[in-house]
Amino acid sequence: MNKHASDIKAETIVGGVHSSPRHDSAHKHVSGAAVYIDDMTEPTGTLHAGLGLSTVAHGILKSVDLSAVRAAPGVVAVLTHEDVPGINDISPSYMHDDPVLAAGKVEFHGQPIFCVIAETREQARRAAKLAKIEYEELPADIDIWDLDVSTHRQVVTPLTLKRGDAGAALNSAPRRVKGRMRLGGQDHFYLEGQVSLAVPGEDDEVVVYCSTQGPSETQHMVAHALGVPSNAVTIEVRRMGGGFGGKETQANQCAAIAAIAAKKLKRAVKIRLDRDEDMMATGKRHDFAIDYDVGFDEEGRILAVDYTFALRAGFSADLSGPVGDRALFHCDNAYFFPHVQAKSAPLYTNTVSNTAFRGFGGPQGMVGAERVIDEVAFAIGKDPLDIRKLNFYDAMGVQGERNLTPYHQKVEDCVIQRIVAELEESADYAGRRKAISEFNARSRIVKRGIALTPVKFGISFTKTESNQAGALVHVYSDGSVHMNHGGTEMGQGLHLKVAQVVAEELQIDLDRVKITATTTAKVPNTSPTAASSGADLNGMAAQNAARQIKDRLIAFAAESYQVLREQVTFLPNRVRIGDVEMSFPDLIKKAYMARVQLSAAGFYKTPKIHWDRKAGRGHAFYYYAYGAACSEVSIDTLTGEYVVERTDILHDTGHSLNKAIDIGQVEGGFIQGMGWLTTEELWWDGKGRLRTHAPSTYKIPLASDRPKIFNVALTDWSEAHEPTIHRSKAVGEPPLPLGLSVLHALSDAVASVADHKICPRLDAPATPERVLMAIERLKAAKKE
Ligand code: MTE
Ligand code: HPA
Repeated sequence: MNKHASDIKAETIVGGVHSSPRHDSAHKHVSGAAVYIDDMTEPTGTLHAGLGLSTVAHGILKSVDLSAVRAAPGVVAVLTHEDVPGINDISPSYMHDDPVLAAGKVEFHGQPIFCVIAETREQARRAAKLAKIEYEELPADIDIWDLDVSTHRQVVTPLTLKRGDAGAALNSAPRRVKGRMRLGGQDHFYLEGQVSLAVPGEDDEVVVYCSTQGPSETQHMVAHALGVPSNAVTIEVRRMGGGFGGKETQANQCAAIAAIAAKKLKRAVKIRLDRDEDMMATGKRHDFAIDYDVGFDEEGRILAVDYTFALRAGFSADLSGPVGDRALFHCDNAYFFPHVQAKSAPLYTNTVSNTAFRGFGGPQGMVGAERVIDEVAFAIGKDPLDIRKLNFYDAMGVQGERNLTPYHQKVEDCVIQRIVAELEESADYAGRRKAISEFNARSRIVKRGIALTPVKFGISFTKTESNQAGALVHVYSDGSVHMNHGGTEMGQGLHLKVAQVVAEELQIDLDRVKITATTTAKVPNTSPTAASSGADLNGMAAQNAARQIKDRLIAFAAESYQVLREQVTFLPNRVRIGDVEMSFPDLIKKAYMARVQLSAAGFYKTPKIHWDRKAGRGHAFYYYAYGAACSEVSIDTLTGEYVVERTDILHDTGHSLNKAIDIGQVEGGFIQGMGWLTTEELWWDGKGRLRTHAPSTYKIPLASDRPKIFNVALTDWSEAHEPTIHRSKAVGEPPLPLGLSVLHALSDAVASVADHKICPRLDAPATPERVLMAIERLKAAKKE
């Protein structure tokens, strides 16, 4: 039957959930039309701030002479800790160990001591260099490698996880290996550095436009520093040019400084760190020293593990406590340990305070797990993949006994077996392993290696109160929708996903839903956008808000047309009420005329989870996300240089809200994980100076470093086993540890120089130098 075009009603809306509209700002990101804070039109008379940083790692401030700074051209004011009107502390853990500006002492090289406010940024930066500061230098602990975990100062109470009796099981195990691994940190290297623009208002009010992942926390910190209630401070962020965890707490200092200066001078103040300052003065991923002791049987089944994860916290607590905790939560990765003990040790050092970074200690924990697997595999002479498979948690649905984590949570949704089996097949692991052995037998200098590594990542904040979210949805009388929630956009596509959820709920095309800036004035008390939970939490809150409006519309329509509620159906862009159909905007117009409330605040809190840190027990995670990667590398055994020949990834995002976005997250996460474990090296000298504080010396992966063949797929069969938002799974952090496949492929290639008889114990980052040193070590050991 022929239908007239106008009679054809759309079967589905454009851009609902499980479809793949492009990132709402993709075209703006690449054309320069996306407005970041430094692109905003500055209010008349905006001043600019520059920081004066400590030039020693640890010392008493004997004298601080800022007269030349004050006299420099363009300088309007110079602020020190004495100018902080409220409390000179922005410690997220409320440990009172994180001053806005150093008071009396400095605890790391690069710590902000004072702040210059000038007419231009250039003038502020030049003036900052003119300070005359005398220090009484104190001994400084820079590296953690040689620190004694049992006696050295820890910035927070450490955590111990325990199940069974690891000591006894290790003593009675048929085989046992002990070792130590050094694991480097990572700079966030967001494209947009830390930046804040503070605009003073009347009375105690101030609005701060801040590149922050945690607007509510920034609000509280600014209020704290100003000595005003939180209701005087508004934080707004439309988007960040990347955050990666580096703006979870680290944005607060710039926000507080800009706000203090703006209120004092009654003019707008902007602060934007340059790359070197940003790298020196703000926290990074924690580096770790991992001690392990593993007992296993002749088959390679792990019987017991004892770990100590020492982490370089830096000079203050910041988030080092929970980062160390998450390392322990992931020291099992996807493996069941019958007996286990794991301890964290967040060690005080005179370096910048380390912070959240995509994965939040989880990837470091997994590095510990995978090292243990490698040790077992080399000890008994099996392919590491066989050892991995032998030690997996029970698969979902299996009523076995191998499903308890070291924190006593039962793993109920384990799909790693299926993912690994499918990836093994699609990547032709067995065929390529054979081909690589043949290649290595004939190739004298270049050696190849391959590794397939799994990921299991726990989703939820372990801080229970952080697992809540709010949203605000307005429907205007023309039928257009304004969507706001507490999450922040840092490039990951969160706003798009939440807009898709609202479009789906109201059955309207995505382009009717306006994405708006996150602001503490619309949604209060939000959690930072972190722990991969942005879409899970805010998607649910926005759905809840949209549902409230929809419910009111249904009630209104049923009453107006004298039909049952069940006879009101939201169809794509229209609504059927009994026998009548009308467009969504027409229904809205009628509802408005009838004085139906067309705005709602939504809320969500994650059910089921609880965590008792003292007891080391709980249902810490609502669910787990899984994935696996198989990487093949070639190394030059004369120079240590390498290339990644091929990577295949299969990742589980449940019933994905947007596959295009999720694939981008998986690719980006993998590359970032690979960079962390290979070329990105943070190097502090003996005086605590970070010597790799610019791209000239700090090597993030380039486009040319990506695998030559890069196949990325999402599981098409998976669904979250809990009722998450449309049964999707979080994707922000879990793909990062897929980069471990590259570290282990390098290890495999190195091992070939000693016929796979010796575990290479490759530390990370496995820079070409480290690869070369490992090769030399193995060659020498082979000769002995
Ligand atoms: N993707 C981009 N493009 N930029 C980022 O800064 N941050 C990551 C990840 N993906 C990040 C990113 C981190 S650290 C987290 S916790 C998640 O995104 C947060 O987003 P979600 O919870 O909304 O997925
Ligand atoms: N990732 C994981 N867990 C967390 C984070 C994060 O960024 N922040 C607080 N808990």
